[in-house]
Amino acid sequence: MFAAAVGVGRSALLVEMVKVVFTPSGRRGSFPVNTPLLQAARVLGVDIDSVCGGRGLCGRCQISCAEGSFPKHQIESTRASLSPLCATEIKYGERKSPLLDGRRLSCHTLLLDDVVIDVPAESQVHRQIVRKAAEYRDIALDPAIRLYYVEVDAADMHVPKGDLQRLIEALDEGWQLPDLRCDSRLLKTLQPALAEGHRGITAAVSKAKNIVALWPGLREVAYGIAVDVGSTTIAVDLCDLTSGEVLGSASAMNPQIRFGEDLMSRVSYVMMHPEGAEEMTRAIRQALNKLFAEVVAQVNGTLDDILEVSLVANPIMHHILLGISPVELGGAPFALATDAAVEIPARELELTINGGGRLYILPCIAGHVGADTAGVILSEEPQCQDQMTLLVDVGTNAEIVLGNRQRLLACSSPTGPAFEGAQISCGQRAAAGAVERVRIDPSSLEPRFRVIGSHIWSDQPGFAASLDQRGVTGICGSGIIEVVAEMYLAGIVSEDGVIDGALRARSARIVETGRTWSYLLHDPDDDGAQLLITQSDIRQIQLAKAALYAGIKLLMDHMGTPDIERIRLAGAFGSHIDVQRAMVLGLIPDCALDQVSSAGNAAGTGARIALLNHGSRELIESLVKRIEKIETALEPKFQDYFVDAMAFPNKSDAFPKLFSKVVRPQPRVPEAVSGSGRRRRRRV
Ligand code: FES
Repeated sequence: MFAAAVGVGRSALLVEMVKVVFTPSGRRGSFPVNTPLLQAARVLGVDIDSVCGGRGLCGRCQISCAEGSFPKHQIESTRASLSPLCATEIKYGERKSPLLDGRRLSCHTLLLDDVVIDVPAESQVHRQIVRKAAEYRDIALDPAIRLYYVEVDAADMHVPKGDLQRLIEALDEGWQLPDLRCDSRLLKTLQPALAEGHRGITAAVSKAKNIVALWPGLREVAYGIAVDVGSTTIAVDLCDLTSGEVLGSASAMNPQIRFGEDLMSRVSYVMMHPEGAEEMTRAIRQALNKLFAEVVAQVNGTLDDILEVSLVANPIMHHILLGISPVELGGAPFALATDAAVEIPARELELTINGGGRLYILPCIAGHVGADTAGVILSEEPQCQDQMTLLVDVGTNAEIVLGNRQRLLACSSPTGPAFEGAQISCGQRAAAGAVERVRIDPSSLEPRFRVIGSHIWSDQPGFAASLDQRGVTGICGSGIIEVVAEMYLAGIVSEDGVIDGALRARSARIVETGRTWSYLLHDPDDDGAQLLITQSDIRQIQLAKAALYAGIKLLMDHMGTPDIERIRLAGAFGSHIDVQRAMVLGLIPDCALDQVSSAGNAAGTGARIALLNHGSRELIESLVKRIEKIETALEPKFQDYFVDAMAFPNKSDAFPKLFSKVVRPQPRVPEAVSGSGRRRRRRV
C-alpha cells in the first residue's frame, strides 16, 4: 500500500493506494483502497464475466485471492488484502451455491491491500472452450447474442418518456451498449416484464445492436444450437451461450431421403414434381424443430431458451431449407441463388425457437461446395497451415479443399452414395450389426471382421453372443473400404478391380455369381445375413474412389504441387475409415501415413465455432471470397484422371510413401480355368 495525491493543486488529497495484479492476464494497476475488484478489473481491461451488472445475483464474476509471496510484483498477497465476505455474498451462497475454496464475488469485494487475484477460466467472458473427444479445439467464447441484466428507472410523471427508452438508457449506462434498437414485437412484453421483475429485467442483445428478447428479473439461461444438415443425417448440438459448453446432442435421418437417396435424385424429384421443393422444405424444417425440442428437453429447457441457430449444409440442402428451388444446382453452371452468409430471424423459416431468435447460415463457396465446407475450413483452418493440406469431406458428394496459408482451392466431385454403403449389394448405413472392420489372411483367404456394437472380432470366442438378435446385418461404408482393400492386398482382387476366379481352387470363399466371381465374407450358416462382396460392388467402389481422386488431382494440378503434406478426412465416413486402407485403394493421394487423420464432424464443429464466436463469421465470410473454385465438370483432364484412378491404387501415380509401409501385392500370373475347377465352384 502507498499514498498518492489525487486531485489538482491545493484541492489534491493524499489517498491510500493498493496494487492489484490479475492472473492469468498479468494486468496490473493501482487503485484507491476500497475500490471494488470488478471495477478495478474493468479499468484494466481484465476479462471478467457478469450478467447481473455487479448486483451480486449471477455469480459469474467469481475470483479468488492468490495467497503467498510474489517477489516479482513485490506483493505479499493474503485473503486479508480483500474485504471480508459481505451479506450479499452470503445471501448468494444461500440462494445458489456456497462460495467454496476462497472464491469471492468480485463485484462485492473491496481492495484493502496489495493483492494478486486469480480469475478462473469459468469467470472469463472470452474463455477458451476445449471440446471433447475427436474434436479438440479451442474456441474463444464471444457469441453474437448475450444477456444483460439492468434495473430500469420507475416511470416518473416529471420525466416523461417511454419504458423502452428507459430500458435502452439503462443498457447504455450499465453496459455501454449505445444506439440499441428493439423489435416492435417485444413492446407488448416490456411493461409486464418490468412489473414482474420489479423493474429488474434481462435483455438478450445481439452484436447487431438489437434487443432480441426480454425476461423479467435476472435470467441466466441462453442457449444456441449448432446444426449440420447432411443429405443423409441431421445433427444438432445444444450449447450454453454463456459458458460455451455443449449441453446436449441429437441427430436424425434427413427425412428428404424418401424423395431421393442422393442429392441429384432429390433435384430430379423437384424437376418432376413441381410441388416437390416445398414438400422437402417442409420436411427439413419439421425435422429441425423436432430435434430442437428433443435436445432442449435433455436439459429440461424450453424452446424459448434458444436464442440462436448456426447452421451448415451443402448447397442443395441449404437452398431447400431456405425455400429456394434447387433446380439451378442440378446442371451447369450450377448457379447458387446466393453464396453469401445468411442471417435472418429464425421465425422466417418457421423454426420454433425464441420468437426473437436468429438463424445464421455460413456462406457457400460454389455450386457444389457449400456452407458445410465453409464449416470444415473454419474448424480445420487450412489458411493457417504451412503444410500443403488436403481436406476431404466425403458424403454422396465429396467436397475437397487444398491449400495452406498462401492459397486455397476447392472443388466437389460426384462420388455417389457407395461410400455410405448404398449401391453395395450387402451395404447398409452405419448401424448396429454392420461390418466396419475387416482383415483377410493372405494365405488362407479367410476373413475376420468386427461389427458395429461389438468389440469382439468374428474369430474370437464370444463373438456370436456379443451380437444382438439380428446378428450380422450388412456392411457399412468404412467396412466396404476395408474389405475391398484387404481383398486387393490378399491378391483376391487385381489392380484393375477384377475378382480372381482362379482362387476358387484355394478357397471356398471365392464363389461364382452369374458370370463373375464374388467373395463370401460372412456365411449365412453363421449368425445373420450372408455377406457377399460381388464384382459389381468392387466396380461401385472403383467409380466412387476414381471420382474422388480425380477431383483431388485437379486441385493438385491447379496448385502446381506434386506433394500433399497433410490430409484431414472430415465427416462420419472420414471418422471411421482406416486411412491406410483408404490409401491402398487410392481414395486419397500418397502421403506419410502419420500425416493422415480424421477431422471428426468438422462441418458441425464449424457451425459450433460460428455459434460461439461472432468474429469467426467475419473470418469465414472473407476467407471464402479468396478461395479459388475449380469446377470439375469443366476440366478436360478430369476424365483422364478418373480412368487412371479406377485402378488400385492408381494406374499412373506411384504411392512410394504408402508402399514403404505396406507390402504391395504382386501382379498375379493369370491361371487357366480348368473344367474340373469349374465343377468345384460353389454356386450361391
Ligand atoms: Fe453478477 Fe458479481 S457480477 S454476481
